Amino acid sequence: MSPTTVAADQQEVTFEVPKLAEALLAHIRKKPGSIATWKTLRQKLGADQPALTQAAAVLADWDYRIAIRKNAGITFFSAPDLLNDIELSHQLNTREVGTHLVCYRITRSTNDRASELAETGAPHGTVVTAEEQTAGRGRLGRSWFSPAGTGIYLSILLRPAISPERAPGLSVMTALALARTLEPYAPGEVAIKWPNDLLLAGKKVAGILTELSAERGKISHLIVGVGVNVNHGVGNFPEDLRSSATSLRRVLKRKLSRVAIAQQFLRQFEKSYQRYVKVDLSADRRALKQYSSLMGKEVTLLSGEIRQHGLAVDIDSSGCLVLQQEDGRIHVAAGEVTVAKH
Ligand code: BTN
Repeated sequence: MSPTTVAADQQEVTFEVPKLAEALLAHIRKKPGSIATWKTLRQKLGADQPALTQAAAVLADWDYRIAIRKNAGITFFSAPDLLNDIELSHQLNTREVGTHLVCYRITRSTNDRASELAETGAPHGTVVTAEEQTAGRGRLGRSWFSPAGTGIYLSILLRPAISPERAPGLSVMTALALARTLEPYAPGEVAIKWPNDLLLAGKKVAGILTELSAERGKISHLIVGVGVNVNHGVGNFPEDLRSSATSLRRVLKRKLSRVAIAQQFLRQFEKSYQRYVKVDLSADRRALKQYSSLMGKEVTLLSGEIRQHGLAVDIDSSGCLVLQQEDGRIHVAAGEVTVAKH
């Protein structure tokens, strides 16, 4: 796959890797640690040694660890943890989600980029990523802290053949896909604060911003934006987020590969999405309840102007939160939850 090139201005910088460098990388990374000789490279890639050396230098500039030996050839050791399309597409093996990738070094918001791409006909399953967002957006008009090289900031463009009423369930489904992705890294410590905040050791580690565009009762497209705090250090968070937000690194005390997590999430998302579109969340209800940070708690739910109280007792097969009230149960599709303090 060749990197997508988009006109760059101050706010928008994409990854651009020359074709030869990309082909060279694809070849040498097949056998990490062993020398690909100049002779083989010349034959396989149809380029001479100076051109290959230049291509290798480009890769080294991108922090690929390689050795160039004048009299022998080129050895690949490791790839950088960069959310570019070469790394993301490497052994991704999805069929639908991420088959078209648009990767930025810097952009305002991947959700904004994805929705622009949607308007110009980008295909279902397009994934937009950024190393850094200058105006990352959260739910309810909040901003999303998006420093360079530490988090995962990605948006998935979907064109699902479902009714707009089912869109909130898709957000809940995304939260579950993300919880399942993070679980192996921190077994037993991941929770979902319905509908779609991810908590790690009780603090927010990831968030989801789903934006719907519908016309005449039909979804024209849907953008699922996901932000994960991966390698933020303590000092990385601004003062006002320090008590409520965390990162995988803060909890696990080690750095993780953002590329690996993003790929695992995209695979998990694709599986969950395909099932959700065909059926609903009935097969996931037990997992949703297990991950939920709200079950058994008295909560207040704000949906627009409507405020409701109740005991959180269930999540139904549409992804609605079920509240037990004095006179019966209500099912709520979306809203902002606060847990009552006793
Ligand atoms: C929230 O919890 O408030 C939702 C946060 C969503 C953040 C992600 S980062 C990638 C995508 N682009 C954005 O501008 N926002 C989402």
